[in-house]
Amino acid sequence: MKTSVINGLILSALTLSPLALANQAGDFIVRGGATNITPDSGKSNIMLAGADSTMTLTVDDNTQLGLNFVYFYNSNWAVELLAATPYTHDVTIQDKNAVLGVDGANLGEVSHLPPTLSALYYFDTNSAFKPYIGVGINYTVFFDEEFAEAPKSLGLSNLELDGSFGLSAQIGADYHLDEKWSLNASIRYIDIDADATFDVGGNNVGKADINVDPMVYSLMLGYKF
Ligand code: NI
Repeated sequence: MKTSVINGLILSALTLSPLALANQAGDFIVRGGATNITPDSGKSNIMLAGADSTMTLTVDDNTQLGLNFVYFYNSNWAVELLAATPYTHDVTIQDKNAVLGVDGANLGEVSHLPPTLSALYYFDTNSAFKPYIGVGINYTVFFDEEFAEAPKSLGLSNLELDGSFGLSAQIGADYHLDEKWSLNASIRYIDIDADATFDVGGNNVGKADINVDPMVYSLMLGYKF
């Protein structure tokens, strides 16, 4: 009895040997899970007709289904595409000087997709735990920008956010459960800056540079093909 348990342990240790778990050229891992985007809490200034309105805005966080596609060139180098279902963020306005009397009001919401292509470097660990670092490029496209009812009634309309190109950097790790399945956690920073424009009383005088610059947290389950 004891012998068979020990034999079983030895067998599973062999099956899960670092060699068997090593990533190889041509390996392809698909990961799915939760990806949270938490924008920089720093405030973005709102300009009206070229002057600082003293009003600022912030963008709240949102979690969506994230997908990673990772292709290995060898055991150290891989390329990763981050994709996700669309994010929708509430935008809140700070109006401490009561310019419009809307301090803390929901200004509206913006949706976006933040596809990010990264080069990953995996460290040699000789174990099931495989940490990596990565740098990448992000293109964020915004859509469905919309003012809430309250700012609309104040004459704000026609909100538009330009797309953003930026760099990203991340750290992460895979933990291989067996030859096929792995758990993944990663933290990345993406430089996302969007120029927003809007109309006030029908005149295109509103501007804000929105520094989204989010931290992006992912927890995923991966499967190796
Ligand atoms: Ni930035």
